[in-house]
Amino acid sequence: MPVISFVSPKGGVGKTTSAVLLGGVLADKGAPVTMIDADPNQPVSSWAKLPGRPENLRVIRDVTQDTVIDVIEEEAQRSTFVICDLEGTASLTVSYAVSRSDLVLIPLQGSHLDAAQAARAVKLVRSTEKAIGRSVPFALFFNRVSTAIQPRTFRHIRDEFEAAGLPVLACTLQEREAFRAIFSFGGTVGGLTSAQASNLPAALANVSDFARAVTNRLRPAAATNPEA
Ligand SMILES: Nc1ncnc2c1ncn2[C@@H]1O[C@H](COP(=O)(O)OP(=O)(O)OP(=O)(O)O)[C@@H](O)[C@H]1O
Ligand SMILES: [Mg+2]
Repeated sequence: MPVISFVSPKGGVGKTTSAVLLGGVLADKGAPVTMIDADPNQPVSSWAKLPGRPENLRVIRDVTQDTVIDVIEEEAQRSTFVICDLEGTASLTVSYAVSRSDLVLIPLQGSHLDAAQAARAVKLVRSTEKAIGRSVPFALFFNRVSTAIQPRTFRHIRDEFEAAGLPVLACTLQEREAFRAIFSFGGTVGGLTSAQASNLPAALANVSDFARAVTNRLRPAAATNPEA
């Protein structure tokens, strides 16, 4: 079943946040999900120790350069979605995970500094493609987008990527308190209470739209043909 990896050599762009948001919403919709925590800092495992993790969401920890390929292949047999959270550097672990991915998602925030790092992530995907002799689908997406305004820099960067022929998800992830709160209280956005974070219906709508945009990328035919 599909393997989705979150990749960027830049630290703090939202790989772990978006990986856990995606895994959580897919699990809440009933799909068996495996999250592979291939970051030595183990952020997904720390989240999983908090209360509220869906029962159908497994977390595999202590995954290293030596084990990542075997773990991904094994989990792809077992779960409907396999989601890999990777460290914020370019490493062999990251390349190996990319080599076994059906979709690589590259988060970036709306600044040109981030855009340069996202371009490095694209290069890493391209060099892995060369090494393994097959293409690896990927898409960039904007994280921490303001809900109030769409800044000009953000629009400019998005236009530049599109002009360069790089795929950008139409759906962005917004800057939301709820997306931080799951790492304090545990569980998924759907399990938060209004005492734990504000604007929960809007946060939930955003992660659901994000999950739909991602799964549509996995099945391009189904996205264009609703009957498929
Ligand atoms: N959409 C968002 N809304 C609110 N806060 C966010 C959002 N995305 C990320 N953050 C915050 O930004 C910080 C960095 O996010 P995160 O840890 O997910 O990045 P990362 O790319 O996984 O970092 P690293 O490279 O260190 O693994 C965290 O404090 C997180 O709570
Ligand atoms: Mg991380």
